[in-house]
Amino acid sequence: MSKITIDNHEIEVEPNTTILNAARKIGGAIVPPAMCYYSSLKESGGKCRVCLVKVTQGSSKDPRPMPKLVASCCTPVQDGMVIQNITSPEVLEARKGIVEMLLINHPLDCPICDQAGECDLQNLAFDHGNQKTRYVEPRRKFEKIDIGPNIKLHMTRCILCYRCVYTANQITDDRIHGVLNRGDAAEIGTYISNAVTNDFSGNMIDVCPVGALTDRTFRFKQRVWFTKPVDAHRSCTKCCGKVVLWFQGENVLRVTARKDQYGEVKEFICNDCRFAQKEMNSWIIDGPRHIEHHSVISQNNYEEITELPTADYGVYGKRVDES
Ligand code: SF4
Ligand code: FES
Repeated sequence: MSKITIDNHEIEVEPNTTILNAARKIGGAIVPPAMCYYSSLKESGGKCRVCLVKVTQGSSKDPRPMPKLVASCCTPVQDGMVIQNITSPEVLEARKGIVEMLLINHPLDCPICDQAGECDLQNLAFDHGNQKTRYVEPRRKFEKIDIGPNIKLHMTRCILCYRCVYTANQITDDRIHGVLNRGDAAEIGTYISNAVTNDFSGNMIDVCPVGALTDRTFRFKQRVWFTKPVDAHRSCTKCCGKVVLWFQGENVLRVTARKDQYGEVKEFICNDCRFAQKEMNSWIIDGPRHIEHHSVISQNNYEEITELPTADYGVYGKRVDES
């Protein structure tokens, strides 16, 4: 085991654990933010730089500090390593700069963006951003395009985290989109106007940290904080069938996978559960969804409701015809 110290908290972790995952074992405010790393996607991380930390002691064998800030999502710990995150003014200053850079081309269209209220960049800018931008150059412009029947791409909002590319590569069997071009010309695109239709492609919407990929069946239907999320399940032959239903009144407005406190999907779901099952009778309700990621969604106190306003279902977990 490797013994390390992060912001004055000591912990022992398996060798080769990354600094970010070691911090997640401790939990709380010392956990660096992450916009591109996704624990269930191999090779993710190392793109956005928001997880930078300062290594003030490399290891007990070689106590020299690391010369530059390092990305905690892809730097493995060494025994005796000492790390600073929120205790380092240098890290906090650098993070402000990263947020400013991520927002260079990202439009401030949160009032009309479907991701508002559950956008990692919105939360990051709130916690670490500056109130003003210094950027005066022209911003990149793109047309919004439909990539397949279920997903809309707003390239102006994309931060090129590559999560959707890894998702398509690793959990679907035909990736036909990717990052085209390089540098400030880089963009997400499909090859020769292909449509993204694979059975698990909807998960790209859930892993996108911003509003670049949105659900065409939900777009502009409602602000997420006016909906009530409920855990539900069904027997599905393609996926685990465990989802979150987002209600308004008696209507299921959207279906998503369940996420953990870091905003990562616990189990990926298929397109059939996500897009085709919006009837209440298709689902068994488990209870209100606790949104672990800090979010404005929890502000509407939906967890206090005890009964669903529907004719077919009574108290959570029971069908009326079962009771
Ligand atoms: S579309 Fe979303 S998930 Fe894909 S690279 Fe851009 S920000 Fe990341
Ligand atoms: S989360 Fe580490 S570089 Fe993006």
